[in-house]
Amino acid sequence: MTEQKNISTASIGLVNPKTPVNVGGIMRAAGCYQANAVFYTGNRYELAARSGEAQYDVDTKNAAKTIPLTRVESLLEQAPKNAKIICVDLVVGATPLPLFEHPADAFYIFGPEDGTIPQQIIDAADEVVYVPTVGCMNLAASVNVLLYDRLAKSAQIAADDELIRESRDNNNRTKVKTWKK
Ligand SMILES: C[S@@+](CC[C@H](N)C(=O)[O-])C[C@H]1O[C@@H](n2cnc3c(N)ncnc32)[C@H](O)[C@@H]1O
Repeated sequence: MTEQKNISTASIGLVNPKTPVNVGGIMRAAGCYQANAVFYTGNRYELAARSGEAQYDVDTKNAAKTIPLTRVESLLEQAPKNAKIICVDLVVGATPLPLFEHPADAFYIFGPEDGTIPQQIIDAADEVVYVPTVGCMNLAASVNVLLYDRLAKSAQIAADDELIRESRDNNNRTKVKTWKK
């Protein structure tokens, strides 16, 4: 298997997320981009997940089996050691993500579907970034964009045909017509 060297760490913090579809999508993103852990606060996700139906399970790669998803009382107290706290939201004065340099060890905090990151967490952050979108994105989409931006700016990208073969579905045999090997 292609080895994705992971000497840096990226963890995700979610402020009181509401929907299992979003948390599932975030776990799938965590698996795809090799994040280390996902933490969340509040009770809404657990309550909704308990009554949830399997058809809404979007973590079909079962990333939650290998990446810890942990409920915590306080995201700030749970920040992984040495990680910079990066709030990601539409906050006045924030840095546009395209101009942002990611720290090696980061704890990215996102707001809920129907709210925003509390000011107290923003005040404690090392950096606050936003994606210059027209209107706000869906929560899981914003986590995907953030993790993709981190990957795109990383010096450790293992990108080759072997990774494509390992990552794609079993029934996918497509290739680029100019492909020679
Ligand atoms: C649906 S949004 C909630 C509304 C958002 N707080 C606002 O002020 O418009 C859910 C979360 O996704 C993230 N998000 C969505 N769009 C974003 C953007 N353009 N830049 C940064 N974060 C974004 C933030 O963490 C946000 O709290």
